[in-house]
Order: sequence, then C-alpha cells, then structure tokens
Amino acid sequence: MRRIDYKGEEYLIHTRSGMRVIDALREHNIAATCDCDHKENSTGVCKVKWPKDTAFLLTAPTEFERKVLGTEVDQGYRLSCQAIFK
Ligand code: FES
Repeated sequence: MRRIDYKGEEYLIHTRSGMRVIDALREHNIAATCDCDHKENSTGVCKVKWPKDTAFLLTAPTEFERKVLGTEVDQGYRLSCQAIFK
C-alpha cells in the first residue's frame, strides 16, 4: 500500500509495476478524470502529490509533466496520467 494525495484527500492505494498512477486511483474507485488532450491543453486536473522520499518508485517526470506542472514537479507533484510505477 502506498499513500497518495489527490485533490487534497489522502488515499492508500495498491500499486503494480508498469501501472499508471491514474489507473491505480481508478482501481480504488477514486474518480480520477480529465478531459485534456494530453498535449497542448492540459488542465493538470489529474495532479497528485507523491511523497518525495518514495519518488524512486515512479518513472522520472515527463517533459509534458514539467511543462504542465512547472516547479511543482520539484515539490513532489505528478500528473497521474503520466507517472508510472517502476
Ligand atoms: S489526464 Fe489530463 S493531465 Fe493527466
């Protein structure tokens, strides 16, 4: 079980290697939705806060995440549609 913060609420989720964070949220019936195009018009609504001390469990932030989140990436925020469990 891993602790994750999504929209100000904290959840414990089961994870598997190769799984996107957004899919882990959905498996736990956490309504993680977004109507973005994953390219130019992202609202970043799938943003999660992931504990920095376990950042090594996720793939490195993508260029898209850095563009959408900016410096929030350095504070532990990720786009759940982009971050994948190693
Ligand atoms: S699903 Fe839209 S930014 Fe992640």
